[in-house]
Amino acid sequence: MPRMSRKLVWLPLLLLAQDIHCDEHDHAYQDGEEVVFWMNTIGPYANRQETYGYFSLPFCRGPKEMIGHYHETLSEALQGVELEYSGLAVQFKEDVPKTAYCEITLTSESLRAFIYAVKNHYWYQMYIDDLPVWGVVGEQDNGEFYVWSHKKFDMGYSGNRIVDVNLTSENKVKIEAGARISFTYEVQWKLSSMKFEDRFEKYLDPTFFQHRIHWFSIFNSFMMVLFLVGLVSMILLRTLHKDYARYARDEESEDLDHDLGDEYGWKQVHGEVFRPAQHATFFSALIGCGLHITTVVFCVIIFAILGELYTERGSLLSTALLVYALASPVSGYAGGSLYSRMGGKKWMRQYLVTVMLLPVLIGTAVFFVNFFAIYYHATRMLHFKSILYMVAIGLFILFPMTLLGTLIGRNVSGRPNAPCRVNAVPRPIPEKKWFMEPEVIIALGGILPFGSIFIEMYFIFTSFWAYKVYYVFGFMLLVFLILAVVTICVTIVATYFLLNAEDYRWQWTSFLCSASTSVYVYLYALYYFFFKTKMYGLFQTMFYFSYMAVFSTCLGIMCGTLGYIGASVFVRKIYSTVKID
Ligand SMILES: *[C@@H]1O[C@H](CO)[C@@H](O)[C@H](O)[C@H]1NC(C)=O
Repeated sequence: MPRMSRKLVWLPLLLLAQDIHCDEHDHAYQDGEEVVFWMNTIGPYANRQETYGYFSLPFCRGPKEMIGHYHETLSEALQGVELEYSGLAVQFKEDVPKTAYCEITLTSESLRAFIYAVKNHYWYQMYIDDLPVWGVVGEQDNGEFYVWSHKKFDMGYSGNRIVDVNLTSENKVKIEAGARISFTYEVQWKLSSMKFEDRFEKYLDPTFFQHRIHWFSIFNSFMMVLFLVGLVSMILLRTLHKDYARYARDEESEDLDHDLGDEYGWKQVHGEVFRPAQHATFFSALIGCGLHITTVVFCVIIFAILGELYTERGSLLSTALLVYALASPVSGYAGGSLYSRMGGKKWMRQYLVTVMLLPVLIGTAVFFVNFFAIYYHATRMLHFKSILYMVAIGLFILFPMTLLGTLIGRNVSGRPNAPCRVNAVPRPIPEKKWFMEPEVIIALGGILPFGSIFIEMYFIFTSFWAYKVYYVFGFMLLVFLILAVVTICVTIVATYFLLNAEDYRWQWTSFLCSASTSVYVYLYALYYFFFKTKMYGLFQTMFYFSYMAVFSTCLGIMCGTLGYIGASVFVRKIYSTVKID
């Protein structure tokens, strides 16, 4: 499995023509071979995404010059990884006694920086042979500030591999103006019984992720699915059956009571239901993007299950980027063919909207956050190189592949194929009860899908915003499938009620009805921010709310698309079997 994951990680990197050659990629060492201790980032414990380069605090480097050079990958850069060599000389299986590696004298400026960091519970992160290691900067005690000056590394090895690293901070030194602080380190190697394949296991938290609540929620949602599917099929089979019987009766006795006007229900709008949706360009672009997102989410979950992607820095993001780029014909195909079926002529404009929709949405959030990151000098700041790579992926993969998809979609399945003709003059929509109004249906539609995912949302949020490694992708796959089924069922029922009220605006209603899940998710994100996290500060707050908005919107587009597709299959089905005069 790890081999597979490595391949998955390398592919996108090759694709992006990046030079990634780091020393530790085969994770095998000879006795006495250099082990590189990388310093990554530092930041307040409560704000996981607010990170700065380690040496942005006035720490000092060890005496050793770096030998190998580290090249960061695109997805690492996007995730704010910024490795710098610590200068600590360490050789495989060679113990280092307590050694001073550098010394600083606190000026009033560096004193202020350290006090700020200690006050805000700053943590730093290191990488040793790709294993993350965390340490705390200092401690506040009775109004006095201390930093930990000694780093003790306990290294566990097995054969020629590193399998375990523990960092202990010792020897706290009081900080005051003019104080000289000597930083020391110590390395002890121990034979460990841990297997190399299992070395990431200690970062996982089974008691958290496989908590009874998690199993229970899956079980619960599953029951809900069974119930919903049963309910939907029962209601629809019985009601539709009755409807068909009634229409058949009406036809037989046409001469007698045709004038009485007791024809009502969904059949009445057969001349309207296949009228193109309003704003067809935008609508078909949304459906195209929705299918695209669905494909990416599904593939990434499958790859994550197969490849244990959490063990490699940034590999989940690079897999997602790769799948996103390669799956772009999906959005072109779905959007282009739908637009063409709805009789759209300005296909070039539709193509541009499809291809730009997600990049513009995500890009806006990224640049907005980047604006703050630059101001704060945070490591989340985008490098010019990363921007260039993203633009290149867009220009050389996204644009041509989506165009290809659009052209194929238009030519293969772009012919209008509605089972009923569309009336020339639109029918007025009759008055109806308030709860049959599309706005109400839309607002209520998201509740059940949200109910089926919100426990999983808690686990996903916690692994992203706090220090948990998400690894239960099997759960995620189940929840994804449950969400899809619940969304489709709810949308079909909503569409049936809408059409029965002789309101034929079902396309947007079905889309928005399931997309409204995202509004509930965003509200839940608000709750999560205020009651489940201790984030503070402008940067982290902006980061949280911007990316949660992007996340919710993408989820909404995905659910909306699933709902629309379900509703559209349903509508075609009922109108193609009814005999229409
Ligand atoms: C690291 O700490 C854990 C838990 O305290 C311990 O089981 C393990 O043996 C330690 N590893 C090394 C290399 O000292």
